[in-house]
Amino acid sequence: MTVLTVTLNLALDVTYGVRRLRPGSMHRVAQPAQRAGGKGVNVARVLHALGEPVIVTGLSGGSTGRDIDADLEAAGIAADLVEIAAETRRTLTVMDGEAGEATLFNEPGPPVSEAEWNAFLARYETLAGEATVVVLSGSLPRGLPEDAYATLIRATTTPVILDADGRALRLGAAAGPRIVKPNAAELAAATGESDPRTGALKLGAGAVVVSRGSGGMTVYGESDWSAVPPRDVRGNATGAGDAAVAALARGLAAGSPWPDRLADAVALSAAAVAAPLAGDFDAGLYATLRAQVRAVPLP
Ligand SMILES: Nc1ncnc2c1ncn2[C@@H]1O[C@H](COP(=O)(O)OP(=O)(O)OP(=O)(O)O)[C@@H](O)[C@H]1O
Ligand SMILES: [Mg+2]
Repeated sequence: MTVLTVTLNLALDVTYGVRRLRPGSMHRVAQPAQRAGGKGVNVARVLHALGEPVIVTGLSGGSTGRDIDADLEAAGIAADLVEIAAETRRTLTVMDGEAGEATLFNEPGPPVSEAEWNAFLARYETLAGEATVVVLSGSLPRGLPEDAYATLIRATTTPVILDADGRALRLGAAAGPRIVKPNAAELAAATGESDPRTGALKLGAGAVVVSRGSGGMTVYGESDWSAVPPRDVRGNATGAGDAAVAALARGLAAGSPWPDRLADAVALSAAAVAAPLAGDFDAGLYATLRAQVRAVPLP
């Protein structure tokens, strides 16, 4: 069993810790940290920590791309990245220690040429063919067609989980992935429906898992279940959705029943909130919550 995670818009995530963020003034940065990021990398980190075989692919370029490769290697995460000419983006998070608040600066991502996209497609077809489950996550870099995810879904018979938003989500869902995982706001924006069940059915895909932060998760479509974390976990909710996708990928690969899959996704994503960095989770809290969370069938 191997999960292939695809991150077309990889990023080097740089984090600056400051005592107090004051716009317009000079700050001293304690312990600048950087590591490979992008939603598919977060999913892969979580799966790797769970001991599940995983391979990361995506587009990477320039010295930032090489930093990403080196960081994945140091983390022991297998990567097969396709090189592009332009420089991979960075994201900058400034953590305000006193307020416990994060301010994010996200670069848009490098332009990708048609030839580079075609080279990626060829590599992807091979990698996806060898995988048990494919995970497609995050935004599309400039130059890629809006239906890039639909193309990737149609190019393989391996079951696909899609986590995207906007038109990439709408067009991708229409290509028939096995699971999509929007949060409630993304689902409403992509479908124009405020009722999640109506929106999920309109979006299509085998199963639509709608996440609602501390309100938990509901699956509509091939099965209808809901699960809620036993309490509101305080911490960094960025990347909680990626942990949920990691659990759904593991559950799909193992063929576990939906109630187990959903309960596992809720417990793991809540445990991810307790860990400061996206892609990490609190293993002790995960074990505790996993024993507590039960999925219930929808009425
Ligand atoms: N404060 C919280 N307490 C407990 N569980 C949480 C909390 N926030 C999120 N979760 C868990 O994480 C899941 C995913 O969270 P959310 O709906 O915020 O995803 P998302 O917006 O896709 O996140 P991401 O930033 O990773 O894309 C939720 O369904 C829930 O199970
Ligand atoms: Mg998300």
